[in-house]
Amino acid sequence: MELNKEETEILNGRDGNAAAKSMEILYALGEIFGAEKLIDISSVQVAGVSYNNLGDAGLEYLNNLAVDGKVKVKTMLNPAGMDLIDWKKMGIEEDFAQKQIKVIEAFKKLGIRISATCTPYLIGIEPKIGEHIAWSESSAVIYANSVLGAKTNREGGPSALAAAIVGKTPCYGLHLDKNRQAEIKVFVESNPKNEADFSALGYSIGKKIENKIPLIYGIKNATGEELKNFGASLATYGGTAIFHMDGITPNKTTIPGDSVNISKTDIADAYDFLNDREEIDFVSVGCPHASIAEIQSIAKQIEGKSVKKPFWICIARKTKEKADELGLVKPIEQAGVLFACDTCMAVSPLKNRFKCMATNSAKACFYGRGTNNFNVRLMSLEDCIKEATE
Ligand code: F3S
Repeated sequence: MELNKEETEILNGRDGNAAAKSMEILYALGEIFGAEKLIDISSVQVAGVSYNNLGDAGLEYLNNLAVDGKVKVKTMLNPAGMDLIDWKKMGIEEDFAQKQIKVIEAFKKLGIRISATCTPYLIGIEPKIGEHIAWSESSAVIYANSVLGAKTNREGGPSALAAAIVGKTPCYGLHLDKNRQAEIKVFVESNPKNEADFSALGYSIGKKIENKIPLIYGIKNATGEELKNFGASLATYGGTAIFHMDGITPNKTTIPGDSVNISKTDIADAYDFLNDREEIDFVSVGCPHASIAEIQSIAKQIEGKSVKKPFWICIARKTKEKADELGLVKPIEQAGVLFACDTCMAVSPLKNRFKCMATNSAKACFYGRGTNNFNVRLMSLEDCIKEATE
């Protein structure tokens, strides 16, 4: 990969150690993936924020970068391991909280916004079609590439931080149009009715096509919420970081020759796989983080009821503040629901705390099982609310 004069100077230490180290990472990545040059990016989203994932080694890495490092572009964080204000309400231990606070302080020192969300596009960071960005979290990456038409690879924590400090990323992979074209047609037989159906569809397609880029036919319409849930599931169970949906997503693509069908039986099998048939003792929605429309829907359905088991809504703090302005938070909190801001059921230390989680997200099922040792049950938002309140 060619570096220009300024980039070479940064590599040689002109802007300090953190910038030199970051340039080294970007240069190595560019060489590995055959990039010809670095390109400017307009925003970065950094994953690997929870102390649960970072541990002491990660914290030390951040502190070293923060000695003389500063981000050059708008940079946000993925969810942390706890609500950064009301962590006691979540039952988080003091030791964990203190470590998590240190992690956040290091990110702040680097000049990063403590947005702590996997849905930056719901809090005003919505890159335009064709814009180059460097985002990390798989559901945010697939949404940005597919629904917004922005261009990003799925960055790891260190490569996202390096891109933020330099303000550039190597131009390879999904930054190039030739790598964003559909590789397989997917014909969907039944139209999904809600976000849980979209999530089950993401599971079915992901399992069938693995990491190929799909061009999906047969979906008549989809809300932003349904697409965020679908993409999160597809990226989790398949591996692609972009999809095309005929008549719905904005990117142009060539039409591939190969095809697969997703039948009603495939969707029934997905629900079967994502349903452990255990008694539910925890309900959690907001994976990816909840939108205002979802909060509106919950407020309407839950007003005047009260929850009989823990019910968490995972959400960006900024989205919750907006919901509060709209008068939506009070009826939900009065029903006994907990807003878990800045975090989620997958990245907070919940291992073995509950036996079986009901959720409307297939991605949450994956992490509920894998990370937290829960049994899981996938159901619609409406059924999640019924499960918590009846
Ligand atoms: Fe977001 Fe956590 Fe789900 S990071 S996509 S809410 S697993």
